[in-house]
Amino acid sequence: MPPKPASIYRNYQAGETIFKDGDPGDCAYLIERGQVSIHKHVQGEDVVMATFGKGEIFGEMAILDGLNRSAAARAIEDCQLMVIQREQLFDQLQKTPITHLLVKILLKRIRNTTDKLARVSGTAMTSSAPVFDSVIEAADQPAIDRIRLGSELQHALAHEEFRLHYQPIVDIQSRKVLGFEALIRWQSQNRGLVPPNVFIDLLEESSLIVPVGSWIQERAFTDLNRLKAHFGTELFMSLNISVRQLENSFFVEELNRHTAAHGLGPAEVKLEVTERILMDGQSGLALLADAKQKGYLISIDDFGTGYSNFQFLTKFGFDSLKVDRSLLRAAMLDPQMAVVLRGITGIAHGLSIDLIAEGIETEEELGLVRGLNVGMGQGYLFAKPLPFDELIKVYPKGGG
Ligand code: CMP
Ligand code: MG
Repeated sequence: MPPKPASIYRNYQAGETIFKDGDPGDCAYLIERGQVSIHKHVQGEDVVMATFGKGEIFGEMAILDGLNRSAAARAIEDCQLMVIQREQLFDQLQKTPITHLLVKILLKRIRNTTDKLARVSGTAMTSSAPVFDSVIEAADQPAIDRIRLGSELQHALAHEEFRLHYQPIVDIQSRKVLGFEALIRWQSQNRGLVPPNVFIDLLEESSLIVPVGSWIQERAFTDLNRLKAHFGTELFMSLNISVRQLENSFFVEELNRHTAAHGLGPAEVKLEVTERILMDGQSGLALLADAKQKGYLISIDDFGTGYSNFQFLTKFGFDSLKVDRSLLRAAMLDPQMAVVLRGITGIAHGLSIDLIAEGIETEEELGLVRGLNVGMGQGYLFAKPLPFDELIKVYPKGGG
């Protein structure tokens, strides 16, 4: 007979020991009924360190740091305990390395403090030299690096170390410049010019993306007016908007404030969003619908890299769809991928969504997307992302 699966409940009678100090830990517990006390031997005496009741969790420390039980647990009353398996707690932590590190540090401190209390006898702990007692392992280095990077990014915002580079988006037939995508760069004191892939994720994971996003709008709209004056024509500015920014209910209000302050209309601003906002539930979509209703242009970014959810395309009258460079690259090499690309452009045309092909580097790639009736293009073949001052050198006044 196969072994019976262990019950998710364990019952203890009043006075019964649940585990002893120093036992290996197999699980944590959630108290469903009754009360539990936590004990430690201090100077030969049994000291109650805590009492827990219904809804509380104990026995979590050994599960989280993999060491033995830091104290004993005993049922004060008849108890029903629900078993929490190690994986339930530990898997959560592994998803968030910084939290994992902080938990390890905190547990180490609790264990050190209780161990010291338990060890102290009549004689004070005198001249023993402090021991360097670190919990940080090589595996924690990435988490530490992220914490360090987070601090540097705070500093970067306060000290204006971010820069915007602008990459032209052109009409594929005439090569006339129609607008620009604003792309963030970081001119770091310590690190030099840092490419966005090093820090964008961290900005997005932290709330920093909100003030940085606000800074981007301010800078990009100032430069859009200067670019319009230089080119002597109407232009749009494309901004990359992250899921996190769309969690901020003031997003549209703030956008309105920034555009108004620069005398810009909503149709001069394009918001590039990825399919990831679909996974964020309804709030981001609602804000985006609000922005769309107010007249901002909405573009799907990186299409063809994620899930490529085709229902998403019908969501709320997207103005444009940006075909990811990897799709273009693949279509150049693989006839089957060329069929996929043709399919996507066909769907976009059918839904009256403008197409932008990004990452165009060669005349052959240009030929391919031109053949698919893609209206707009972006890529090194036309221009690299450039800071404002260099951009106006590359393009003569009044020329696009
Ligand atoms: P664990 O170390 O697995 O087993 C003993 C449990 O007692 C521990 O997890 C915590 O749930 C609890 N515990 C340990 N130290 C304290 C403390 N100082 N205060 C309250 N509870 C504690
Ligand atoms: Mg983009």
